[in-house]
Parts: sequence; structure tokens; C-alpha cells
Amino acid sequence: MLQIEIDHLNKHYVGFHALKDINIAIKQGSFVALVGPSGCGKSTLLRTLAGLEKISSGDVRIAGTSVVGKPPRERDVAMVFQSYALYPHMDVERNMNYSMRLKRRPKDEISERTRAAADTLGLGGLLDRLPKALSGGQRQRVAMGRAIVRNPKVFLFDEPLSNLDAALRVHMRGEIRKLHERLQATSVYVTHDQVEAMTMADHVVVMRSGVVEQQGSPLDLYDHPGNKFVAGFIGSPAMNFLPATAEADGKIVFNKDSTQSIQSNFHIEAGRKLWVGMRPEHLSLQAGSNDVEIDAVVTGIESTGSMTFVVLDVADQPVIMAHSGRPGNGKGEKVRLHISADNLHLFDYETELAITSTRTT
Ligand SMILES: Nc1ncnc2c1ncn2[C@@H]1O[C@H](COP(=O)(O)OP(=O)(O)OP(=O)(O)O)[C@@H](O)[C@H]1O
Ligand SMILES: [Mg+2]
Repeated sequence: MLQIEIDHLNKHYVGFHALKDINIAIKQGSFVALVGPSGCGKSTLLRTLAGLEKISSGDVRIAGTSVVGKPPRERDVAMVFQSYALYPHMDVERNMNYSMRLKRRPKDEISERTRAAADTLGLGGLLDRLPKALSGGQRQRVAMGRAIVRNPKVFLFDEPLSNLDAALRVHMRGEIRKLHERLQATSVYVTHDQVEAMTMADHVVVMRSGVVEQQGSPLDLYDHPGNKFVAGFIGSPAMNFLPATAEADGKIVFNKDSTQSIQSNFHIEAGRKLWVGMRPEHLSLQAGSNDVEIDAVVTGIESTGSMTFVVLDVADQPVIMAHSGRPGNGKGEKVRLHISADNLHLFDYETELAITSTRTT
């Protein structure tokens, strides 16, 4: 069943078209991430789902019913914001059940639901603490507790983890995902961090400038990016792009160094201007099957301990190779890069759309 349907949604602020013809269908129980650079419209879209922002045209349906014009409290959604905005003078328990007290729910129900949410979140021992006596991660959990006690059909998260340190963020990602599964809720999660989107969501929506650029499963977006923007946005370190020109029979020549050419398995008309995309983790110093070879010069080595990022010069362009070991190469060394022809991505130079249908294999 579809829990949320966003149908030809447009949002205009005065003089600014913030959301442009957005179409997203979200299944009951799924975890959807909205991801994209700052200012692309993620929060605006989430706020239109919550009812905090009026839409200009289109439709939003929750559980099959249009919610356009309905105030937030009639939508059965709960939103968790980046800033937790806890009431400083209320203890954890009163922060969590504030909305139920406001609605004058029966006392038994309030304490039962608060207790259940606190247990779910591991806050049982902290119910009488004030927010100032909590760590950042604990405050974040109280903010989620406030949403959980309302028992909503849909959770909306707007960058809930960006105030936390890296280790806690990774921990909380797992916790939110587990919570989502336990509550069998539908979650929409805004983040500008593509790793967060990829690891948490089963459906990722990539946005830019108010437009949905592409949506699909995380691996679908990684394997088959529809354009250069999505290709560069999904994956870390980002995909390398080199300007190039097609010659006959799938041969491709780098624009900045016409002595270097690679043999692809694409059918492209000669003379077409392209971007060649290569993911850092697909480049190797070892020959493999279906191999394409490229000459390069090492210009830098960045080691994280477990991974080494080798910065190279290829046809006068910087290229990054991710290496899981510790290559013994030094700056200035000439090397031969290898990549499987199956891992080459091509994009039209002008439209930046992926060239796909012409693969021969
Ligand atoms: N009330 C408003 N009036 C006019 N423009 C607005 C208003 N609110 C937001 N915008 C614009 O709409 C665009 C989308 O804003 P939004 O907050 O949705 O971005 P975002 O993707 O959440 O970015 P971030 O990652 O920085 O939070 C921005 O360009 C912003 O300047
Ligand atoms: Mg935002």
C-alpha cells in the first residue's frame, strides 16, 4: 500500500520556485531519504508533508487521502527536527508527553505510552532529568521520544543527527533504522549526507534546485546514475570526470591529452563530446579482466589508515583512486591505471545525461 503520494507538487515562495513538479510514491513501511545539496528544497518538501508549509499546486495524499489544506495535527505525522528544541524547564518525561498532556489524554495512557517510548529508546533511567543534564545523543533520543509517543503513521526527520559527533551519528543511524523497523512506521529522512542516505534508506530521492534528479534504491543510484550530477553526488570519494571525445568504434580520446585513448564497449557516434566517469574504487594498479588501461602520474597520497587515496594526474586532470591497502608508490611516479570497461560511465558533455542504451555487452 502507498502511504504517501506526492503528485505534481509545486511550491512557490514570492519570486522563487522552490519545488518543481515533484512526484514521489512512498510505500507503507519504507524508509525514504531525501538528499541533495544545501538549498535544494529538502526541508521545504518535508514541511509540506508535515503541513507546516502550504503548497502552490499538486496533491499530497497520506494513506490514500488528500491532506492539502489540512493542519499538521490532522495528518498523523510526527516530525523530528535538527534542533531538538526541548523545553529546558521540563524533565525528560514531561518533554516526551507534552503533546498528550496538551490533548488532555487520560493519565494512565500518558504514563503507559511515555514508559513504552522511554524503554524503546533506552531512556528509562533518565525520565526525571532536565535536558541540560543530558548528552547530545540522549537529547536527540528525547526528541525522537516526543515523536514516538504520538504513535504516528509517518515519521519525518529533518537532519536529526547533524549536531552529533561522528561516532554517535553512526550509532544513532543504526538506532533510528531499528526503531523504524520495530514500529513498522513509514519514515522520510532528510539529509545532505549521501552516506547516511545510502546506509539508512531503501529508497533514495536525489534533489537539486527544487527538482528530483533521480530516485531509486541506493545501489540502483550507485550503479546506474542517470546523469553526471547524481553520479558525482552518490559515492565517496566522488566519481572522477574527464572531458573526452568519441572516435570510431567506441574509442574515446581525452580532450586534454589526445595521445591517450581508451577502448569502451559503448556505441557512440564519432565526434560526440563526453564526460568519462570513473569511480575511485573501480580504479586499480593491477590488471584485471575486460581491462581499460590509462597512463597516470602520482601527485599525492592521502592515507586514512585503512584506505589510501592516491591522487593522480590523468590527461592533465586530477583523478582519485581508492586503494584498500598501502600502495608503495611515491609522488611523481608514472603508473598505469586499470579499470574494467564495465565500470566506465559516459555522460553527454552538454546535457550531462548518462549514455546507457548503446552498450554492446
Ligand atoms: N520563506 C521563504 N521564502 C523564500 N524562499 C525560501 C523560504 N524558505 C526557503 N526558501 C528557499 O527555498 C530553497 C529551499 O530551501 P530548503 O530549506 O528547503 O533547503 P534545504 O534543501 O533544506 O537546504 P539545507 O540543506 O541547507 O537545509 C532555498 O533556496 C531557500 O532559500
Ligand atoms: Mg534543510
